[in-house]
Amino acid sequence: MHLRHIELTNFKNYEAVSLDFSPRFNCFVGNNGVGKTNILDSVHYLSLTKSFFNNSDSLSIKYGEEFFMIKGEFEKDGESDDLYCAFQRQKTKVFKRNGKEYQKLSDHVGRYPVVMVSPADSTLITEGSEERRRFLNMIISQYDPEYLDAHVRYNKLLMQRNKILRESAGYDSATMLDLYDDQMLPLAAKIYDARKELTENLKPLFSDYYERISHSAETVNIRYRSHLAASDYSAQLTEARSRDLTLQYSTTGIHRDDLIFEINGHSARTSASQGQQKSFLVALKLAKFGYISRMNGFFPALLLDDIFDKFDETRVEEIIRLVGTGDFGQIFITDTQKERIHRILDRTGIDFRLFRIGREGIEEEINNGKENSDEKK
Ligand SMILES: Nc1ncnc2c1ncn2[C@@H]1O[C@H](COP(=O)(O)OP(=O)(O)O)[C@@H](O)[C@H]1O
Ligand SMILES: [Mg+2]
Repeated sequence: MHLRHIELTNFKNYEAVSLDFSPRFNCFVGNNGVGKTNILDSVHYLSLTKSFFNNSDSLSIKYGEEFFMIKGEFEKDGESDDLYCAFQRQKTKVFKRNGKEYQKLSDHVGRYPVVMVSPADSTLITEGSEERRRFLNMIISQYDPEYLDAHVRYNKLLMQRNKILRESAGYDSATMLDLYDDQMLPLAAKIYDARKELTENLKPLFSDYYERISHSAETVNIRYRSHLAASDYSAQLTEARSRDLTLQYSTTGIHRDDLIFEINGHSARTSASQGQQKSFLVALKLAKFGYISRMNGFFPALLLDDIFDKFDETRVEEIIRLVGTGDFGQIFITDTQKERIHRILDRTGIDFRLFRIGREGIEEEINNGKENSDEKK
């Protein structure tokens, strides 16, 4: 699978841009703030129907404009699909594949998987459990179409259940709560099973990548923690009822799940060095990439943003060799220094296109090792 072409209109700092990509490596070089990350985010958007960075779609509209539009052409199994995404202020998002609008955005998610490796990944370690649940959700939704629906339904029921808990004073809400629990239980079980299976499968991939990236003998681990791990969750739910009523929210369930990150048996957040945390996060993302590839039978697009921020040139070269040689997918990578990324790709012998971004916009400078080539497929 690869993205052949993208067209942006009023997307973040881009008024109008049209780019043809290499099925292998695509590099974006330019100074800080020119819009390298924004290109990667537009690919993320087209793939997952949302920005990697902001939850609010209007933040992706170019300042002072009313709408943005992203068009793209993905190729998979020899067939190509035209995608169209548009968002106008105060309106709902329109997402079409081959001219036909999706009924639900979740029908699109997973069709063209991507994995972003970004400095913002650090929030996985530093922030609360919601970030880590989102991490799990985003992986599973890219190979299990039913998961996202189950999750959306669970969250809706959870909100209604919490509302009952808040408003229950003075009337007997037990029957209502029973009804909710009966509906939520099978959804929670499905979500729990998927998350558990994912974590088990991610673990060995993750340890392996960590070892290769960090060149160290530290043992790293990820553990899934959930109330549903208890042998009788239904009894636990009953037990929690009076506490739920007192606190006025649902205190147990998959919405409280967490992932525990450890290095040598200690919490990665409190005990790992900055360097260890960086290796940890990249290994985690590459494990995600590896697992989605295995589940789908093809490679997601890999978006490597500011990877030089995390590692020196030798280490980045190793990472590029790790993900970039042999049979692999399409990669998008950003760097502030053209010479550095050029050097690495020359040494690895991988075909690439290089786009230079400046104040005037984007220019394709190198295509498959040829400077200023006009040949475009
Ligand atoms: N909605 C928007 N409209 C116009 N410009 C934007 C918008 N959102 C971000 N930008 C601009 O994008 C630039 C940052 O782009 P980014 O891709 O992060 O740069 P970098 O090349 O450092 O990765 C900033 O100059 C910012 O002002
Ligand atoms: Mg950037």
